[in-house]
Amino acid sequence: MKIIEVKDYQEMSQAAAEYIIKKINQSPNLTLGLATGGTPKGVYEHLIEDHKRNGTSYAHVTSFNLDEYIGLSKEDHNSYYQYMYENLFKHININPSSTNIPSGVNSDLQAECAEYERKIQQHGGIDLQLLGIGSNGHIGFNEPGTSFQSKTHVVDLAPSTREANARYFDNLEEVPTQAITMGINTIVKSKEILLLVSGKAKQDAVVKLFNGDVSESFPASILKEHQNTTVIVDEEALNGI
Ligand code: GLP
Repeated sequence: MKIIEVKDYQEMSQAAAEYIIKKINQSPNLTLGLATGGTPKGVYEHLIEDHKRNGTSYAHVTSFNLDEYIGLSKEDHNSYYQYMYENLFKHININPSSTNIPSGVNSDLQAECAEYERKIQQHGGIDLQLLGIGSNGHIGFNEPGTSFQSKTHVVDLAPSTREANARYFDNLEEVPTQAITMGINTIVKSKEILLLVSGKAKQDAVVKLFNGDVSESFPASILKEHQNTTVIVDEEALNGI
C-alpha cells in the first residue's frame, strides 16, 4: 500500500478528488467504483466544483457502487441510491444508465447479487475503486469474518455498523439489519484502489490496518496484498500509531 499523509478531512478530500480527476482525464471511459458514508462526501463536493469550473466530463464514465441497504427503495432518503443522486450524480454529466447500484428491494436478492457481479465483470471490472473503512475494518459492508473469496452477497450488519450509521436515521431501529455488498474478492479485483481514512473514530482501524496481520477478522487488511492500493489518511486518524 502506498500511504499519503494529509493534514485533515479537507486535504484528504481534495487530494482524492485530484487523483480521480487525473484518472478521468487520462481515461475518459474510466470505470469508477464508488462509496458512500461520511468519508467520500467531501471528495464528491470537490468533483462537482471541478466539473462546474473546469468541465471535467463524466459522459463516458461508468460507475458501480459498493453497496445498498436491504429494504430501502430508490426513493428512500436513506438509500445509497439517493445518497449518490443527491451528493454527486445530479450535479455532473454522468449518464444515469451508466450508474450502477445494487437494488435492496429485489424480491430475489440472490439473483440481484449474481446479476450485479456479472455486470461488473462483463463490463471489464473496476478501474479505480474508492473506499472508506468501518471502525471494525469493514470495506463496503463486508463485516469481520467475511471470506476474502466473497463475491457480491447479502450481509447481516454488525451492531457497531448499525450504531455508526444510525446518525442518518431517526433512530437505531430504523437502520436496516441487512445490506447487499460487493464481496471482498469483487473489491480486490479492482485494478486500483483508493482508501480514504479520516478522523479519530478510525484510529483503531488504522493501527490494525498498518500494524496487524492480513486476516478475515479485519477485512481491510486484504488491501495490503493488493498490487495498487493508495491510502490517503489524515493526522487525526494516524494519531494512534
Ligand atoms: C459504511 C459504508 C462503507 C463506509 C463505512 C464508513 O457503513 N457501507 O462503505 O466506508 O461504513 O463510513 P463513514 O465514511 O461514514 O465513516
